[in-house]
Amino acid sequence: MAGPCDSPNEVTQYNLPNVLPDMEKSLARELPGTPWDNHRMPVIADDLARALRDARFVAVLTGAGVSAESGVPTFRDALTGLWANFDPLELATPAAFRRKPKLVWDWYAGRRAQLGRVQPNPGHHAIARIEALAPSFLLATQNVDGLHARAGSRKLVELHGNIARVRCSDEPRRVVETWDDAGDGPPRCPHCGAFLRPDVVWFEESLPAHALIAAEDAARACDLLIVAGTSGEVYPAAALPQYAKAAGAIVVEVNPTATPLSALADHVLRLPSGVALPALVRAAWGEDAMRD
Ligand SMILES: NC(=O)c1ccc[n+]([C@@H]2O[C@H](COP(=O)([O-])OP(=O)(O)OC[C@H]3O[C@@H](n4cnc5c(N)ncnc54)[C@H](O)[C@@H]3O)[C@@H](O)[C@H]2O)c1
Ligand SMILES: [Zn+2]
Repeated sequence: MAGPCDSPNEVTQYNLPNVLPDMEKSLARELPGTPWDNHRMPVIADDLARALRDARFVAVLTGAGVSAESGVPTFRDALTGLWANFDPLELATPAAFRRKPKLVWDWYAGRRAQLGRVQPNPGHHAIARIEALAPSFLLATQNVDGLHARAGSRKLVELHGNIARVRCSDEPRRVVETWDDAGDGPPRCPHCGAFLRPDVVWFEESLPAHALIAAEDAARACDLLIVAGTSGEVYPAAALPQYAKAAGAIVVEVNPTATPLSALADHVLRLPSGVALPALVRAAWGEDAMRD
């Protein structure tokens, strides 16, 4: 298993406990009058709209919540039905794959099949519009579902890989285009015979160094960082808002529930991203800004 000591250019992802104080008490800003059931026309504060419009470099960090309105379950929500009795650590770790390769392969195969039936939502499209409208831009996503690219995002780094890609479990760079799913275990690498696995980053594994470095550079260089749909508990991605804040950027959180990142945000939009992000784009660049 790779770790920081084996590969100095890569950083291992840790699932840290929530160590920050109770965010409900320390919310930086919360929009008044936007209850859950009445969020069709969210009000975006003028200073936030202006900050987005005037930013030279906008960075965006997304997590599973951004795909929730597309019908892609977030990590914990995904463990329903057949998978209700599994902990994510029983499915999304190298040790789990060594112990039960077929179980892990089947879970990901099910999720991959599910992705063929879902579409990007207005939140994904709004992020692609910000890329088109901001002078400089980078999107760093923890999502493995490929929906950002399908919505038109191009300046994009995938911190945790992509579930649509399959690779050899022994040769990390060997991506395989076709495989035979018929056997008792996961299909085998046509080159070396090892099991194939999804090209995603599991807990305790290293993030792709180029993606993480690009994301960290963007966090430190941007004027404004939007953090949408992430629980802020999975490191190192969860450190990116802290870097941005420390470097003087404006941090905007979009999440219906409080997270450990809420306390450092300058603006908090307690709304689903499919509602908040298009509203943000329109407030910054005008009513037509969501149209190509
Ligand atoms: N779609 C995907 O690709 C996908 C799905 C599940 C898990 N994962 C992986 O699991 C890990 C979990 O970390 P995470 O922080 O991304 O997800 P998470 O499941 O830990 O947290 C999801 C967050 O999204 C919020 N949320 C729920 N609905 C939302 C909505 N409509 N709009 C905005 N926010 C909403 C929740 O309040 C929560 O804070 C990541 O490493 C990720 O790679 C990816
Ligand atoms: Zn191989």
